[in-house]
Amino acid sequence: MIYHEMIVVGGGLSGLRAAIEAKMAGIDVAILSQVHPARSHSGAAQGGINAALANDPAGADDTWEKHAFDTVKGGDYLGDQDAIMQMTKDAIEVIYEMDHWGCPFSRYEDGRIAQRPFGGAGFPRTCYGADKTGHYLLQTLVEQAYRHKVKFYVDQYVARLIVNDGNCEGVVSYDMVRGGFESFSANAVVIATGGAGRTYINSTNAVINTGGGMAMAYHAGVPLKDMEFIQFHPTGLFSTNILMTEAARGEGGYLVNGLGERFMEKYAPKSMELAPRDITARSIQTEINEGRGIDGKPYVYLDLRHLGAEKILERLPGIRDLAIHFEGVDPIEEPIPIVPSQHYTMGGIDTDVNGASPMPGLFAAGECACVSVHGANRLGGNSLLETIVFGRRSGAEASRYLSLLGAKRTSPRVADNAVLAMEDTVKELGEREGSEDAYAIRAEMTSIMKEHFGVFRDGPTMQPGYDKLVSLKERLGRAGLRYTGSVFNLDMIRTVELEGMLDVALAIGAGALARTESRGAHFRTDYNTRDDVNWLKHTLAFYQPGAAGPRLDSKPVHLGTFEPQERKY
Ligand code: FUM
Repeated sequence: MIYHEMIVVGGGLSGLRAAIEAKMAGIDVAILSQVHPARSHSGAAQGGINAALANDPAGADDTWEKHAFDTVKGGDYLGDQDAIMQMTKDAIEVIYEMDHWGCPFSRYEDGRIAQRPFGGAGFPRTCYGADKTGHYLLQTLVEQAYRHKVKFYVDQYVARLIVNDGNCEGVVSYDMVRGGFESFSANAVVIATGGAGRTYINSTNAVINTGGGMAMAYHAGVPLKDMEFIQFHPTGLFSTNILMTEAARGEGGYLVNGLGERFMEKYAPKSMELAPRDITARSIQTEINEGRGIDGKPYVYLDLRHLGAEKILERLPGIRDLAIHFEGVDPIEEPIPIVPSQHYTMGGIDTDVNGASPMPGLFAAGECACVSVHGANRLGGNSLLETIVFGRRSGAEASRYLSLLGAKRTSPRVADNAVLAMEDTVKELGEREGSEDAYAIRAEMTSIMKEHFGVFRDGPTMQPGYDKLVSLKERLGRAGLRYTGSVFNLDMIRTVELEGMLDVALAIGAGALARTESRGAHFRTDYNTRDDVNWLKHTLAFYQPGAAGPRLDSKPVHLGTFEPQERKY
C-alpha cells in the first residue's frame, strides 16, 4: 500500500491545478495518470480560455457579470447561477496567474493579452495562444507542478475507488510498467479524468477520454448529474472528427453549404457563425439532413480562404496543419469539409462549487465533474476556464477537508481487500471462455451513441438505442481477455473500462429518454420546446448494481440572478 494525504487521478489541467493548490497548502499529494501529464487531452484544446479582461477595443465594456449572463443564457438556464458567477469572477485572477507563471498568450501591440470573439459571447473575451491554447496552458502547469514537487505516478490505470464506511479512502490502480494492481491510500481523492467522449464513435476526444473517473464514482454510489447533455462541436474534420477550432469562425471563417450559401443567416441572423454550439451544430446537421451538404454529401464547408495566408499562419497554424495532414486540404487554398462531432460532456460527477461530491473524501474537477457551470450547453472557451478555476477550488477544498480530518489514516486491510477484489475480477476475466468480443461490443456502443443519441433525438429512436446498450452490457458478461500478461496489458484495461463506458452510456440514454423537452444540446424533435415548468431541474443518475440502467432522480437549479428567457441569437 502506498500512502499520500491526497491522490489526484488525472494529470490534465484540472488535476495539475488541484495538485499545485494542495502542495501550496502543504499537503502531501500525488497525481496518478494514464499518460504523462504533458500529453493529457487538455493539450488538444485549441481556441482559448474566457475571462472578462476587457482588453480588446470592442470588449472595453466587458465585465465578469456579463460573462456570467452569456454563460447562463448559453446553457439554456440549466446552469447553477451562483457557481457560474464564481467561475466568471475567478476567471480574471486565474488568467493573470497563468500569465505570471509563464503561459505564452498571444498579445496586442501594447503587450496586453489578446482576446478573440467566440460563440454566444457578447464581447471578444477568449484569451488565446494562437490555436494551441490548451497545449500552452498544459505545459505551463506541468512546469509549475514540477516546481512545487508534486509527485507523479505515470502509466497508471486507476480502476476503482476504495470506499470505507461511506468515505473515499483511496484508489486501486494498475501499474502498466511494473504489472499488477496496487492500492494508493489517501484521505482525499480528486478525480480529474476528463469527459466520456469516446463512448461516441464521432468524437474529437483522445482515446483516454472514456469516462473512467465518472464510472468509478458512479459505481461507488455517487450520482452522475445531467448526463443527457452531450455537446457536438460544430466543426470536426469530416473524415476523422479532429477538432477545427471555433476560433476559425471567431477570426472570421464562414460556414457554407452545397448551394454556396452562408446558411447561418437562416438560423442565427445576428450571431451568424458565432451562435452557441448547440444552435450551430443543429444548423449544420439540418443542412446535411435536408440534402444541402457539399455535392449532397454529409458535410458542409468551413471556409477560411478570405482570411488570407498571413492571418491563417499567425492565428490558426495548428488547424491548418491538421487539415493538411488528416484531410488533405490546405485551408489557405481550399475550404475544409466539416461535420458536427461529439466534443464535450456537460454532465458528470455531482459536485458543489468547491468540487466536493456527496461522498466525504471524494472531489472532482474539470470535464468529469458537473458543478454545474455549463448547464445544457457549454460556451466555447469556458472549458479550459473550468479546468483551472475548479481544479484550484477543489485542491483548496480537499486540503481544507484534510486539515479538519486531522491525521486519520486509511485501513491497510480495506486497501488490501480492494486490491484482491480487483485481482479476482481480472483473473475471472482471464479464465472466461469469451464467446463475445469486447472490441466488437465497444464498436457497437460507439455507433449506437452516434445514431440514437446524436444532435437530434426522439423517443422512438432513443428507446431501441437504449435497449441495444442494455443487451451489450449483458453480452459484455461473456467477453474474456485476449491477452493475460501482467505488463502493459491494454487488453485488460480496455475490457475493464468498457463496463464503465456502457454504464455511462446508459446514464446518458436514460437521462435523454426521461427529459421530455428540448434544452441546449438535448434537442428532441418529439418535444421540441423548452419546458421550464417540468424540466428546469438537474437530472441525477444513481447506479443500481445488478440492474441494467440507473435510477433517476432530480435536484433544483440554483437560480436567482438571471430570469430564464427565450434564447435568441
Ligand atoms: O473550438 C475550440 O477551440 C474548442 C474550445 C472549447 O471547447 O472550449
